[in-house]
Amino acid sequence: MLAQTPPMGWNSWNTFGWDISEELIKGTADIWNDLGLLDAGYQYLVIDDCWSLKERDKNGYLVPDPNKFPNGMKAVADYVHSKGLKFGIYSCAGTMTCAGHPSSLEHEFADAQTFADWGVDFLKYDYCYKPHNIPGHILYKRMGMALRNSGRDILFSACNWGSDNCHEWIRSTGAHMFRSTGDIQDNWESIKNIALSQWNKEFYSAPYCYNDIDMLVVGMYGKGNVALGGCSDEEYKTHFSLWCIMNSPLMIGCDIRSMNEATHSILTNKEVIALNQDPEGRQAYSMEQWNNSDVKIYIKPMTDGSFGIGFFNMGDSDGEGSLQFWDIGLTASSGYGLHFRDLWEHEDVGVFTENYTCKLKPHHCKVFRARLVKTK
Ligand code: GLA
Repeated sequence: MLAQTPPMGWNSWNTFGWDISEELIKGTADIWNDLGLLDAGYQYLVIDDCWSLKERDKNGYLVPDPNKFPNGMKAVADYVHSKGLKFGIYSCAGTMTCAGHPSSLEHEFADAQTFADWGVDFLKYDYCYKPHNIPGHILYKRMGMALRNSGRDILFSACNWGSDNCHEWIRSTGAHMFRSTGDIQDNWESIKNIALSQWNKEFYSAPYCYNDIDMLVVGMYGKGNVALGGCSDEEYKTHFSLWCIMNSPLMIGCDIRSMNEATHSILTNKEVIALNQDPEGRQAYSMEQWNNSDVKIYIKPMTDGSFGIGFFNMGDSDGEGSLQFWDIGLTASSGYGLHFRDLWEHEDVGVFTENYTCKLKPHHCKVFRARLVKTK
């Protein structure tokens, strides 16, 4: 079974857009394990749009662009597999992909078979140029059915940006993850807007079909295809923490071949990733503070009875986060408190009863694992 926990990997789009090649994919696969990415849980190496020629061949099959992939896609997939990774590719439910390449409408079974024959393990399926006369859920059901009958386990990553209330029907199409937002950009406004757009929609994410709030921009620093501005490392930390606690799939979007130490330590923070990869996949719930503070609080119930607790200052001035334990079901009279471990500082902070309060600079966050302890 696929996607018991949120899928993790890398996708070419955020940094490279149309500028992709066998050399890029091999170079990315080569360095993956040296960086400890597989060990941290990243498994899927995914090629996004612009990998094919603009026309199908005379028999109606998709053709990898020979200038970019001179040895075809099976060779690329084999290479990726030889590194212990899984290989992903991209198509679209409409009449063309978003960048104008052939897509899979009316070719669903043939394309699913082509992908299976190449050794594809993951298909991102976009929504551009959707035909008006066919409802979106039918388009995804078609490809969901074709993939499940292709003879290969292929993770189905739906990408319709939350259109047509897809959170209500996407699970029934067989999709394992679904984009619920427009495209991310490498700047704080975009991260903030995406995170806040999910307020009260968190409950649609669950094992085998996760709410995907788009690929990560951590480590892009304003370079690449969606790099419009760039962020500071603290902002990237907040971005990563939000995506982890909100159960989003984690698809790296920077050029991992040149990532710096700060990026590496964010993307491989195993204590934060553990929140994201908790086996029960319970979605975090969000909590407004009584004073309408810009500091948002997320609580994620974990399989072992502990909680992931994140404080996120989404505002542009210093803020304070205060969690009243009563609000998560822990009363003062229970005789229990919470032991807090800081997942970015990697240190135990202590035991608190009744509440926990922290101050946060603009765009900063604090993320904890809190465990119940007897205090009386
Ligand atoms: C859409 C998707 C992006 C990316 C591009 C490719 O915009 O939302 O994630 O796949 O298409 O053209």
